[in-house]
Amino acid sequence: MSTSEFKRLIAEGIPDELPVLKPYDYNINHAPKRKDILNSTEKKLAVKNALRYFPIKFHPVLAKEFAIELATYGRIYMYRFRPDYVIKARHIDDFPHQTRSAAAIMLMISNNLDNSVAQHPHELITYGGNGAVFQNWAQYRLTMKYLSEMSDEQTLVMYSGHPLGLFPSHRDAPRLVVTNGMVVPNYSSQDNWEKFNALGVSQYGQMTAGSYMYIGPQGIVHGTTITLLNAGRMISRTGEGLRGKLFVSSGLGGMSGAQPKAAGIAGIISVVAEVNPRAIHTRHSQGWVDEVFSDLDKLIKRVIQAKSTREVVSIAYEGNIVDVWERLADENIKVDLGSDQTSLHNPWSGGYYPAGLSFEESNILMSEDPDKFKQAVQKSLIRQVQAINRHTTNGMYFFDYGNAFLLEASRAGADVMGSDGEFRYPSYVQDIMGPMCFDFGFGPFRWVCCSNDSSDLETTDKIASETLEKLMKKSPDQIKMQMADNIKWIKEAGRNKLVVGSQARILYADAEGRIAIADAFNNAVRKGKISAPVVIGRDHHDVSGTDSPYRETSNIYDGSKYTADMSVQNVIGDSFRGATWVSLHNGGGVGWGEVINGGFGMLLDGTSETQNKLISMLHWDVNNGIARRSWARNKEAIFTLKREMERTPGLKVTVPYIADDKIIEEAFTPSGK
Ligand SMILES: NC(=O)c1ccc[n+]([C@@H]2O[C@H](COP(=O)([O-])OP(=O)(O)OC[C@H]3O[C@@H](n4cnc5c(N)ncnc54)[C@H](O)[C@@H]3O)[C@@H](O)[C@H]2O)c1
Repeated sequence: MSTSEFKRLIAEGIPDELPVLKPYDYNINHAPKRKDILNSTEKKLAVKNALRYFPIKFHPVLAKEFAIELATYGRIYMYRFRPDYVIKARHIDDFPHQTRSAAAIMLMISNNLDNSVAQHPHELITYGGNGAVFQNWAQYRLTMKYLSEMSDEQTLVMYSGHPLGLFPSHRDAPRLVVTNGMVVPNYSSQDNWEKFNALGVSQYGQMTAGSYMYIGPQGIVHGTTITLLNAGRMISRTGEGLRGKLFVSSGLGGMSGAQPKAAGIAGIISVVAEVNPRAIHTRHSQGWVDEVFSDLDKLIKRVIQAKSTREVVSIAYEGNIVDVWERLADENIKVDLGSDQTSLHNPWSGGYYPAGLSFEESNILMSEDPDKFKQAVQKSLIRQVQAINRHTTNGMYFFDYGNAFLLEASRAGADVMGSDGEFRYPSYVQDIMGPMCFDFGFGPFRWVCCSNDSSDLETTDKIASETLEKLMKKSPDQIKMQMADNIKWIKEAGRNKLVVGSQARILYADAEGRIAIADAFNNAVRKGKISAPVVIGRDHHDVSGTDSPYRETSNIYDGSKYTADMSVQNVIGDSFRGATWVSLHNGGGVGWGEVINGGFGMLLDGTSETQNKLISMLHWDVNNGIARRSWARNKEAIFTLKREMERTPGLKVTVPYIADDKIIEEAFTPSGK
């Protein structure tokens, strides 16, 4: 299709004639049928809601069609309106636009829905089983149309995938404000989500799905590599490193699929179980998994061999993780690091497949008998924890990977609680990412080259590594290790061929590093060293972006880990300091009602106006969280904050006085005792 025809179709929005009904494509990975949650009155309301997007003349046909979609899939996706052109990242100027900011947003949306990037592209799900960009194809078409028309004096408002419309604003305002899944707190249960989503009035945006900042599995390869490297430092008491050690986990899906690749980069043997053969095929054909086994006997033999020769190999097991944990324990095979990355933030609709049932049996049971399915999941979690506990008794270090594993296991009655009423295992943020990265301001900074040209990406890699190397010369000892890990990462990133979809890159940097890199990119765009603007952003999973008591803020110990002031303030602050778009979500990673998170995107177009914005916004975007973490008495954050205040005029943050526990104890001891 020619670029001009593509532009015409984007600008068309909802077409004047009904497009031809498309056959259901069995070659694509589809979302499982969702729970039948609406009563008959609500089902009619869902169809009536869906028809709001279309002229009356279409209603007789579409009403019937949407009623069938709702009955068949549990949702109305409006499959008929899926466009015929290929959805993918393109050169920024291939998108029809009045302002390049809007074109950059179109590029990012398109990448999130690319067939080779998204988990269930036809259901507009990017990752995590339910991480939606839009609820239906009408929303996609209307949003793209609005973006193609908008000027620098307007802001597009998105309510959970629904484009509310273009509103007059001003040049310095964000061009786009996104909210996903925001509800009155008391209505934030899992079933509320199912219901509101089926009615077409809310969606689960995950973190980078509904905020248009997903960059394929690369982002998570980096995060997982950093996690494994730092976990390795914790368990290598004599500094022996990861060579010859064994890591076991589950999931080869959107994010979890990064585990074998990251394990390979970190230099540890990995076994990852996955029940979905399609997911295994994707990672194996990408070269992210070296070998696949579906026979447990053969798997065990291979693991013993790899351990004895200290060979770094990544192995996928096609089957249930519970069977792997139990068998490894029965064989007395030492596992050094263990985790789980099933999608337990979404336990009852396909996020977790219980042991004892085949993949197909589970898919049928979850929609036909949800109660029985729930019992099977809970029984399976109890078994899984029993096996994991046998391994930890034998010296394995187990961590929760932010997928609500411990939370759901505890709700199922599994033996995961310690004597102090807390989980007996830490979350990966509590022990690793929190104190070693977030409290120092290090988080998942990312960028996308809007030329869609790999040579621009190469240039940005070089600029980023030179910038970090320069900064590292003056870095304090406390952060040298993180700097070194990320310099090594960025130098090898091109060789590791991690790009899937847009020409994107990620690394972890602190406020100083992020500002320096963004500034250098903006200069390079101005000088024409990079051929088109660059989008910068981050995962919400960061220093300041997310309030999530069992994940990002699990290493907050002043009682405030259940509050969400930080993430909300973060988005508000970013929005008036120059972000091109901002987003605020309920849910993301650990489940609806369990987390509030926010993010931003900013277009670096080479102007001096943008230079001022990037300095102001990135400074706030990191230091808001540092200030909160410092107030929570985290010593690494207090160190970082004091350093920041020394070099930043105008930054005055309330620093805690640390009370001596003895004085507190005495205050509660009756006098005379
Ligand atoms: N990778 C990270 O750094 C990271 C960070 C935070 C949170 N998470 C969480 O990890 C979870 C996974 O994310 P995702 O994007 O990969 O989700 P996903 O749904 O794409 O993948 C999960 C995979 O687990 C498989 N699975 C489910 N139950 C299984 C079982 N019992 N045995 C074997 N395989 C099973 C599923 O088939 C699926 O392919 C999510 O809850 C996410 O929020 C990951």
